[in-house]
Amino acid sequence: MPGTLQILGIAGSLRDGSLNKALLRAAVGLAPAGMAIEVFDLAQVPLYNGDVEAAGDPPSVQALKQAIAAADGVLLVTPEYNHGVPGVMKNAIDWASRPPRGAPLGGKPVGLIGASPGITGTARGQSQLRQAFEFTNSYCMPQPELLVFKAHEKFDAEGRLTDAGTAEYLQRYLAAFAEWVRLFVPPGGAS
Ligand SMILES: Cc1cc2nc3c(=O)[nH]c(=O)nc-3n(C[C@H](O)[C@H](O)[C@H](O)COP(=O)(O)O)c2cc1C
Repeated sequence: MPGTLQILGIAGSLRDGSLNKALLRAAVGLAPAGMAIEVFDLAQVPLYNGDVEAAGDPPSVQALKQAIAAADGVLLVTPEYNHGVPGVMKNAIDWASRPPRGAPLGGKPVGLIGASPGITGTARGQSQLRQAFEFTNSYCMPQPELLVFKAHEKFDAEGRLTDAGTAEYLQRYLAAFAEWVRLFVPPGGAS
């Protein structure tokens, strides 16, 4: 649909039963009118290696960079490992921050949410991730935040979001993110 915001959704976990993949699926289903979220799976993205990059980006990295470049905004759904950003997520950001001039993340509006079974709901991981966007010159939405704590209690065995409160917060978050992304959509409208 013309004028629909095209959002790329990336979860920073590779496992099938990931709570963060489940949260991203919920976001796809709860996206407001005028926003479409496409999911990019990081399973095939290798570890960043400058020698590999110098020889030419592997196909999975090309796909990641092209998907980010084509999107009006990027929604990152991050777990938290040891009070920080898991390597899977940081690695994707590192690839997408290259080359320093003209990187797909440069000038891109970014939203950040996350889920963990703990009581801080990825607060520290998200906070750390925000620092990366200073260097990549990406526009990370400052507020609202969405920290899904005790996440294992909020999804069923099939990974469906069952907690009404979380669904409501997620809807509100996505509505705010749509407004945020539209601030950066070039004249002429969304893709
Ligand atoms: C290596 C490792 C470190 C972790 N560190 C944290 C942490 O610092 N804070 C937290 O809330 N959960 C932590 N956890 C638990 C994760 O939040 C939990 O495994 C979560 O389900 C991972 O996200 P996923 O379900 O999307 O794969 C850690 C898990 C692993 C495997």
